[in-house]
Amino acid sequence: MFPRDFAWGAGTAAYQIEGGWQADSKGPSIWDTFCHEKGKVFGDQNGDVACNSYELWEKDLECIRKLGLTHYRFSLSWSRLLPEGTTRHVNQKGVQYYNKVIDDLLACNVSPMVTLYHFDLPQALQDQGGWKSPSTASLFDSYAKFCFQTFGDRVKLWITINEPYVCAKLGHEDGIHAPGLKEPGTTAYLVGHNMLRAHAMAWQSYDSLYRSKQGGQVSLAINSDWVEPFSTDCNEDIAATERYLAFSLGWFAWPVFVTGDYPEIMRSAIDAQSRKLGHKDSSRLPSFSKDEPSVLGTADFFALNYYTSRKVKPGGGCGRMMCMKSDRDAAEVLDPSWPICGVSWLAVVPDGLRKLLKYIKDTFNNPTVYITENGFSQLGPVEIEDVQRAEFYKDTILKVAEAIQEDGVRVRGYFAWSLLDNFEWADGFSVRFGLFHVDFADEMRSRTVYRSGQEYAKMILKHKLGK
Ligand code: GAL
Repeated sequence: MFPRDFAWGAGTAAYQIEGGWQADSKGPSIWDTFCHEKGKVFGDQNGDVACNSYELWEKDLECIRKLGLTHYRFSLSWSRLLPEGTTRHVNQKGVQYYNKVIDDLLACNVSPMVTLYHFDLPQALQDQGGWKSPSTASLFDSYAKFCFQTFGDRVKLWITINEPYVCAKLGHEDGIHAPGLKEPGTTAYLVGHNMLRAHAMAWQSYDSLYRSKQGGQVSLAINSDWVEPFSTDCNEDIAATERYLAFSLGWFAWPVFVTGDYPEIMRSAIDAQSRKLGHKDSSRLPSFSKDEPSVLGTADFFALNYYTSRKVKPGGGCGRMMCMKSDRDAAEVLDPSWPICGVSWLAVVPDGLRKLLKYIKDTFNNPTVYITENGFSQLGPVEIEDVQRAEFYKDTILKVAEAIQEDGVRVRGYFAWSLLDNFEWADGFSVRFGLFHVDFADEMRSRTVYRSGQEYAKMILKHKLGK
């Protein structure tokens, strides 16, 4: 059913699991700062301890082995390695920690997939403008080179930046993620631009300095919902759906995989909206400089984070003068056939993943694809016998198999989100995505496999045996 060398994985991210926020001279990140401010996160919770994976890594490794994963995706905390964000000061304890994680994984025959940036910018760099500042891209490149140099002899799959869309929009437009900026209509575009530049620089560095010696692959993880017009025979709904896609998947995938520039739909929508509001300035969406290497072609595979599907109609402006939603003019509409389950934003639509994979094949020139995140969360009282989530994984993996066999999509791996229940950003610990339950009231943060974890392990075993 699946290729023999298919990657069966699960993922985590540093801030969501590690804890040890000040341990061994780690520098603070923007998530430390954001959570320590009152009123930002559900119940004023924070990731100071989280799953305490900084101290309990061996417990995570046991979980990974129990599932029979072939791959484990985790992220490096930039400010644990470089407390001030720059290579002027390297924290050797941080290097030791990640060396141990990587070596232990390899000793158990598990391949690491390493994310360099999963939302947690060093606070020191935020203080100098963060992702709004063009120079953050060069600092990211230095950090990436440091990581390739230090860990790249053993790490062969790299993700530079996780979900630039979420960082840009939730962190700088809506203000519900760190650094909590609410600067609608401008900053998210600037931040997204600098993240694309950062990604491209790091890919270029890998390509010219490390690829021949290390032989790995580098990409960025792009999140996208699957979207369909609310009424399939309504032209306005069809056009709104195209705009919606251009402003999400297209924003980051189009420059990297198709043209080296933003989708035309996005550029013209932002220009038109600017004119409507009487702004002469149509450069709210920045332009790529001819003096820098192109972002086109800077991905060795397509890394996709998929969670949900949406129906779309025109509309959805934010009611303010200027915001991304008004630029996009495409609203999500709830459809009874795709009901929300669990968290407020997650309609469970496994078939949406198959359709999205086919769309990616057709639009982005049939790339190899890793599904770097996919999952479904529990809300409210914990159920270890989470039958619904177990079913979800079965249904979804079947759809991935269909995408490979029937649609010819070159999917190379699937990473469930997440290995562990963890700190789910603005929702704190109230939302559980783990294949393992974590008892956050217990000092030892005991991990217990869910039914969904057991079922995932069975599926992995079955496919490994070629059944
Ligand atoms: C993604 C993010 C993950 C995880 C997941 C579930 O946006 O990369 O860190 O939180 O969503 O909401």
